[in-house]
Amino acid sequence: MSKLWGGRFQKSTDKKVDDFNSSIRFDKRMYKQDITGSIAHAKMLGKQGIIAMEDSKKIVAGLLEVLSDIESGKVEFLIDAEDIHMNVEKLLTDKIGESGKRLHTGRSRNDQVALDLRMYLMDETSEISEMLKALLEGLITLAKDHTDTIMPGYTHLQKAQPITFAHHLMAYFEMIKRDLERLSDCRKRTNILPLGSGALAGTTYPLDRQFVADELGFYGVTMNSLDGVSDRDFAIELASCLSMIMMHLSRFSEELILWSSHEFSFVEMDDAYSTGSSIMPQKKNPDVAELIRGKTGRVYGDLMGLLTMMKGIPLAYNKDMQEDKEQIFDAVDTVKLCIPVFLDMIMTMTVKKDNMLKGAKGGFTNATDVADYLVKKGMPFRDAHEVVGKLVFYSISMDKNLDDLSIDEFKQFSDIIEEDVYDAISMETCVNGRTVVGGPAKETVKNAIRIAEEYITNL
Ligand code: ARG
Repeated sequence: MSKLWGGRFQKSTDKKVDDFNSSIRFDKRMYKQDITGSIAHAKMLGKQGIIAMEDSKKIVAGLLEVLSDIESGKVEFLIDAEDIHMNVEKLLTDKIGESGKRLHTGRSRNDQVALDLRMYLMDETSEISEMLKALLEGLITLAKDHTDTIMPGYTHLQKAQPITFAHHLMAYFEMIKRDLERLSDCRKRTNILPLGSGALAGTTYPLDRQFVADELGFYGVTMNSLDGVSDRDFAIELASCLSMIMMHLSRFSEELILWSSHEFSFVEMDDAYSTGSSIMPQKKNPDVAELIRGKTGRVYGDLMGLLTMMKGIPLAYNKDMQEDKEQIFDAVDTVKLCIPVFLDMIMTMTVKKDNMLKGAKGGFTNATDVADYLVKKGMPFRDAHEVVGKLVFYSISMDKNLDDLSIDEFKQFSDIIEEDVYDAISMETCVNGRTVVGGPAKETVKNAIRIAEEYITNL
């Protein structure tokens, strides 16, 4: 096949180079954006009198036909037409003849690919945002059921203070909410039209860039033609947002994996969301959570690949940049695969409330509250800390929890301790006394949930 750019060449491209150079394998997924962008460009060329209105109309109609041919599976893309841009142009020209050859006036594949990728990633960003919204809703639904479910909170993976499962879930709500906001922020910087940058130095044709931007729904136009074709910050920024989403899913997955172990037994994954072992009949493995944790690495890899690909290339376009697509596509695909399965996994798991409560009661999670009890009775906090330290040491030797000690045992350490200590250090008091904004107390978390619901409604 002769190349669209074949004029200055005496020999045809080596077959190996055709395969090597070609990006159609992976950039064909941008066919819709490519065609939509070309339609806007063609309309503008006609309106500006750069090509005849009649040609412009033929091109638009032809492109719509190409679109429906592709969508009905009639089209086979050609490796030697290199990429989606030249494939579409060839399909158009095969269909409408001469007029098709006028489409590329005042445009380069360099600004075209920058346009397509921005449009494609914005579409994907919207889909991912919807998925995150569903995840936020799921977290709220779960949290509502667990404002009374007491569990141990940890630092250093050592039991620290009692919290509720709702409070734990709402921590993830906050993270995912920031992820959603980051995506919408990233979208703002992506939503700028690069078309009109030409190959690197704009064009002599009187393009109306704002018209194209309006047609395609872009917020504005890029202000420097070199930057317009060389910038992939928007893809890298998206990869970074996606990495952070995966990091959050991975942390939660790690917790669920731990909690599914016999040692914790805080949750049990639904049968539909776990797998067995081919040799050990007793096994029920949290594979879904593990795979999400594992896939996080590949999204980080995509981000690193993109950053590294961009770090040493001089302005403006370089073919290195064709490598942006597989990496950002992989990051997008992976995140889109993980969010829904993660959501279903957490919505179907069984929460073992009794074990969580048992876990909260052990490990002296109410030690701070004993100290606070002493402080409320007038003891300086440092002294109280010392007394409770000794109480804990004693309790360990007796193999007891603090609330199992008799009043006489308590009094050996401080005679200001009275019967009311038991109430002051019960798990319920420990949790529900923490009414500070952002704290785990039932009413406080319920309020946080109310605010979260309002946030979702206003999205
Ligand atoms: N397939 C190319 C890419 O993805 C399109 C731009 C090609 N431009 C060029 N001057 N060869 O980057």
